[in-house]
Amino acid sequence: MQHRKPIIAGNWKMHKTAAEAKEFAASVNQELKNKTGVEMVVCAPFTVLAVLRESLSDSIAVGAQNVHFAEEGAYTGEIAPRMLTELGVRYVIIGHSERRAYFNETDETVNRKVVASLVHGLTPIVCVGEDLTQREAGDTFAIVEGQTRAALTGATKEQAASLVIAYEPIWAIGTGKSSTAEDANEVIRHIRQVVADLYDQATAGQIRIQYGGSVKPENIGDFMEQPDIDGALVGGGSLQPASYIGLIHGVK
Ligand code: PGA
Repeated sequence: MQHRKPIIAGNWKMHKTAAEAKEFAASVNQELKNKTGVEMVVCAPFTVLAVLRESLSDSIAVGAQNVHFAEEGAYTGEIAPRMLTELGVRYVIIGHSERRAYFNETDETVNRKVVASLVHGLTPIVCVGEDLTQREAGDTFAIVEGQTRAALTGATKEQAASLVIAYEPIWAIGTGKSSTAEDANEVIRHIRQVVADLYDQATAGQIRIQYGGSVKPENIGDFMEQPDIDGALVGGGSLQPASYIGLIHGVK
């Protein structure tokens, strides 16, 4: 059995100014600077990435929440991969359900962003997940399978092994109503099987798959106990320093 290092990523969404990001860093650095055994990431708005990289301990990586797939060009308002890497950004969330729902993100643009990020050495955190109607219709496996296959199109085996997938059932995001750990593990096991079908068992054994949706310090332990869940992507529960620290320590 492959050992996969757990990864906890905060997703701040559209929260925090630069001053607030600095304050957050000052509050978590001391506690987390020597933490090992878990990869720690904070995915923040573009406007605070530089200040966050400067003020956070080196033990905590910085991620963005979106990226464009072009090298550069006439794309008003967009941000290219190399603009992120220059700031020391190492991760990027791609295809979050809010971006799919409100900003016309499709399986095709998600895939182009994944490929462009990998080329630039940015690690994608690719989000997949079903909505409530799809779940109730019994389509969960088919939905996450389609999204996973599309996202990984054109990625080599090595690239696929290096990236992170976040399984986030849409009905669990920001609702306080998380999936049960057992249900989340079942879907994540299916995603891992899809990766095995696309590549091989070794790649499936290496790829890290997180759960996301109403994770907090009180329930992180339940998810981490599951064999296929390699960490969490956390929105609301990542905003307060004490809660972020609680999530990290909850990994054990
Ligand atoms: P939540 O958000 O933790 O606030 O439910 C998760 C996410 O959207 O990544």
